[in-house]
Amino acid sequence: MRSSSGVAQAAAIIASLSLCFANGVSAVIGSGSSNFTFPENFMFGVATAAFQIEGAWNEGGKGESMWDTYIHKHPDYTPDLSNGDVAADSYHKYKDDIVMIQTLGVEYYRLSISWPRLLPQGTDNHINKEGARYYRKVLEELIKANITPVVTLFHWDLPTPLMDLGGWTNPKMVDYFEDYARVAFTLYGDIVKIWTTINEPHQQCYNGYDGDYFVPALNSHGVGVYLCAHYLILGHARVYHLYDKEFRPHQKGKIGITLDAFWAEPKDPSKVEDQEAAERYLQMRVGLFAHPIYSETGDYPALVREVVNNNSMLQGYARSRLPVFSPQEIEMVRGSSDFFGLNHYTTFLMSPSTMEKGWFVPSYDHDTGVRMDQDPNWPIPGSTWLSIYPAGFRKILNWLTKQYGADVPIIITENGMCDWGGINDYERVSYYNKYLYQLLLAIYQDGCNVQGYFAWTLMDDFEWKDGYTSKFGLFHVDFDSPEKTRTPKLSALNYRHIVKTKKIDFNYIKQSKYLVNNL
Ligand code: NOJ
Repeated sequence: MRSSSGVAQAAAIIASLSLCFANGVSAVIGSGSSNFTFPENFMFGVATAAFQIEGAWNEGGKGESMWDTYIHKHPDYTPDLSNGDVAADSYHKYKDDIVMIQTLGVEYYRLSISWPRLLPQGTDNHINKEGARYYRKVLEELIKANITPVVTLFHWDLPTPLMDLGGWTNPKMVDYFEDYARVAFTLYGDIVKIWTTINEPHQQCYNGYDGDYFVPALNSHGVGVYLCAHYLILGHARVYHLYDKEFRPHQKGKIGITLDAFWAEPKDPSKVEDQEAAERYLQMRVGLFAHPIYSETGDYPALVREVVNNNSMLQGYARSRLPVFSPQEIEMVRGSSDFFGLNHYTTFLMSPSTMEKGWFVPSYDHDTGVRMDQDPNWPIPGSTWLSIYPAGFRKILNWLTKQYGADVPIIITENGMCDWGGINDYERVSYYNKYLYQLLLAIYQDGCNVQGYFAWTLMDDFEWKDGYTSKFGLFHVDFDSPEKTRTPKLSALNYRHIVKTKKIDFNYIKQSKYLVNNL
């Protein structure tokens, strides 16, 4: 089934695009190159996730993930009535993907292991040999191509049998996650030296457990969301210590977690209540996960504890909806990450609110008590949640550095922009240029310890609730073609140039309507 025609085409198009740019372009973006170059050993990479690209949902002995099961039962979950059955077919086309990564010139590739492909029942009593061989092949091919794999253990595709037991609301998940991680470290730890345990626990718990925007769509407002957070944090820490004690001594790698953080800007910066709302949002959404791991004291942030305890009491609960860590657990979680994996996409404007349309009582939104708006001046080139405000990137990096210090390096494990498609993606070129420029300012002017950057994403993929309608890829994928043909976009060319020169050249690709002013 594998074909390299798409890749040959990719190389040809990159060559022809380069020629066209060398011959000069009309209007240019911004004005010349950035003053700064990326540090010598800065890690440049691209990221993907198994469920979003692999397909082959029932091939090679794979078990079902909760996303397979849920979407098959609810085919209208996505606007295009799509699912992840085939996706970009990377299960068969992984060699093509690796050539694409090479074309970009990056040295790192962040990918995830599908837990049910490796352990079809979720538990370690049955390892799927074909699944185990598949990831071994992918990882070996990457190493052969001089690309360092960065492997995420859990990027949301929980095995269905474990979801049937309550997923992350069930304390046993901590054990099952540890068992799964042990299998992965044993099978691949000789060649994988950078691991991230969990991808975006906040989005998983908020959208999947508090609400129904993501699978498992539990709608356990204000209750399941905190159980999910609690056991994900404990699961992460358990796996960190497993690696640290049993594997690190001979495998000598690094392991961390990936958290997502929007920047929260006070809607009216002169209003104290808006400043407080922004801070409350950050503590409730980022601090909830980051404070237990990265702060000096450990445990949930005091503000979060106070808010959820008070609301729970007022709502007639005998105990707080936010579970409590034992002193031993606080110690186990504190410091359990070698780096801070950060996914950042966008910014919202915050003001206080006690109730908004669509909120439940109790709920995570109601506890957070913040209304989120977008600035009408910020472009929204694709899905409504993602508006472009590059300065927010620098601000969140500074906030994190202030909260948790500069000792633990930050690695940007995802950053990118969605649109509705097309290979002339000038907006994406501009997004990357401007966000990366803010990253340089954060490093050089503010002293933020950022050591790597992964563009999201290598190619168009299954974008969860949006199906295939929303595109984040550096490479276009023709989902209608049997070959799932990949074609580089302008942003691929631009990223390749940045990686090669370690500089941002705002003149490299020509201007478009979103490519305006202020850096
Ligand atoms: C973060 C998630 O990790 C990834 O799976 C998703 O596609 C991007 N955000 C864009 O929404």
